[in-house]
Amino acid sequence: MSATISQTVGKITTHVLQRMRDSNEKIAMLTAYDYSMAKLLDAAKIDVILVGDSAANVMAGYKTTLPITLDEMIYHASSVVRAVEKALVVVDMPFGTYQGNSKEALHSAIRIMKESGADAIKLEGGVEIAESIDRILSAGIPVMGHLGLMPQSINKFGTYCVRATDKEESEKLLADAKLLQEHGCFALVLEKIPAELAQQVTDSLTIPTIGIGAGPHVNGQVLVFHDMMGITQQFSPRFLRRYHNLGEEIIGAVGHYINDVKAGDFPNEKEQY
Ligand code: KIV
Repeated sequence: MSATISQTVGKITTHVLQRMRDSNEKIAMLTAYDYSMAKLLDAAKIDVILVGDSAANVMAGYKTTLPITLDEMIYHASSVVRAVEKALVVVDMPFGTYQGNSKEALHSAIRIMKESGADAIKLEGGVEIAESIDRILSAGIPVMGHLGLMPQSINKFGTYCVRATDKEESEKLLADAKLLQEHGCFALVLEKIPAELAQQVTDSLTIPTIGIGAGPHVNGQVLVFHDMMGITQQFSPRFLRRYHNLGEEIIGAVGHYINDVKAGDFPNEKEQY
């Protein structure tokens, strides 16, 4: 079997992602928020690491992604960047740092790029944030879009259910996707939308689409690392495939350690000076 594009290049760039899309090579993306996990994902040769604002949920325990701050995202992003040699590192702009004020959006994006050393940023929304996207792109910062279920708008929609199931919302999503491409986004995340709509969006665009709960007819897939590894145990939407039950393994290993300590079995003769 001949080598894939991602196997033959050194660092993954936005241009490499476009080449992968153009030659039908799927893009694999996962979240990471800290140095040690990012190092493992990069060693496994993941294409893209997303420093998602899902850090608000899985790292900080908030119910929504809204509370995480720009400073906190920069902390997570710079930890990830220090670990990564190959993957493209994309950082979510947190809620309140880009909506409604394109100058503030540019300022926030510049802080992320300057202080973390990341490769690109991601924003949620369509036409409503077009001005912010233009300004950020004008500073040479690559932008990934995000449509469908947009967790930063949870208070507007009220649920995390599948989005764009009716004609009005699916037409808006398709129009927004085209607009994001026209404005210069290098890729687009499609979250929790019908597979048929995701296919229609993918067929209408030339930039890569990356799905989460959007079916197979997209150019790549993204999952939250803690969900796919079974570290978060309560969250199990239909789209989630668990590749490990790390949560149970950790609980088991910690239980074993506790027993060893209590029984005076740890440390043994070889484990002392
Ligand atoms: O914050 C995040 O992890 C995300 C993914 C779910 C795409 O935006």
